[in-house]
Amino acid sequence: MGLHSNLTMNAMFSDSQAGFPTARPRRLRQGVTLRRMVRETRLSVDQLVLPMFAIAGHGHEVPIDAMPGHARMSSDLLAERAARAFAAGVPAVLLFGVTEHKDELGTKSFDPHGEVQEAIGAVKRVAPEMVIITDVCLCEYTSHGHCGILRAGQVDNDVSLEALARAAVSHADAGADIVAPSDMMDGRVGAIRAALDSHGHQDVAILSYAAKYASGFYGPFREAAGSTPSFGDRRGYQMDPANGREALREVALDIAEGADMVMVKPAVAYLDVVAAVRQITTLPVAAYHVSGEYSMIKAAAARGWLDERTVALEVLTGITRAGADLVITYYAEDAAAWLKETL
Ligand code: PBG
Repeated sequence: MGLHSNLTMNAMFSDSQAGFPTARPRRLRQGVTLRRMVRETRLSVDQLVLPMFAIAGHGHEVPIDAMPGHARMSSDLLAERAARAFAAGVPAVLLFGVTEHKDELGTKSFDPHGEVQEAIGAVKRVAPEMVIITDVCLCEYTSHGHCGILRAGQVDNDVSLEALARAAVSHADAGADIVAPSDMMDGRVGAIRAALDSHGHQDVAILSYAAKYASGFYGPFREAAGSTPSFGDRRGYQMDPANGREALREVALDIAEGADMVMVKPAVAYLDVVAAVRQITTLPVAAYHVSGEYSMIKAAAARGWLDERTVALEVLTGITRAGADLVITYYAEDAAAWLKETL
């Protein structure tokens, strides 16, 4: 048994009293229009969040090799691209900062003129209605590439909380609507909530990366963000891929600390976790279809091994069917266009 509830199974048995030839499920699969009527899951552009990478400067665009179609962009170009996505129907962006100014403490993470802070302002100017979510973590800003601050060669949880809260407040000061801590320190949601509130940001929401696994699927992202740890790995703070029950504990803790939405990440190898989290909370659930999950489809499609549009929409629909309200995906803009054409 996995983490699934029995509800679906029970419903299925009671409907299936009649057998073949009385029961013929194929009757409801005849024709595009009938299939449209009985479709259970409707992937909508309203659910999609587009991740973007901000760099310093003006007119700069640096493609990300392992993520065709995506680039690190200075705030002017990033804002243009965000506005284009918004016009296509994508309601929100998730912003990451990529910096050359790294230090032991990740101080660039709370620079009011940092990469993310500048990008927030630029997106707000060109697409004021777009929802801006910012990733709150230190790994893009620390010289060692870990998600928190080091003490005696180890990521120190409690020392890191203050730095993360400071970064979150700085994003809110710059105009972020939602902050999304991805560091996986214990207690960070509570620390960030308290800091936001004491700086007058009661209305800034927290989307917590509640169940974030130590995943191999983040590879292309680390190239994009320059955030590969210089030693060790993230298994001391991110979750073990083998653990499902622990995800529910992480989610419960983050909700108790004040999370407004919770996330499962990555998505495809963790659909059971998405489904289980959906059962235990009334809050919106987000799932992150991460860089490696995007790159795999891109790479196979480039070789003609998979049909990109079919597979991408199938995956995004599957994530939604599992119970995600929001889907964070590098396919957001493409999917917005495809969904307009698809009945
Ligand atoms: C920062 C962070 C990571 C991702 C989102 N925030 C990388 C990591 O934890 O190593 C990954 C996103 C992706 O792969 O698309 N901690």
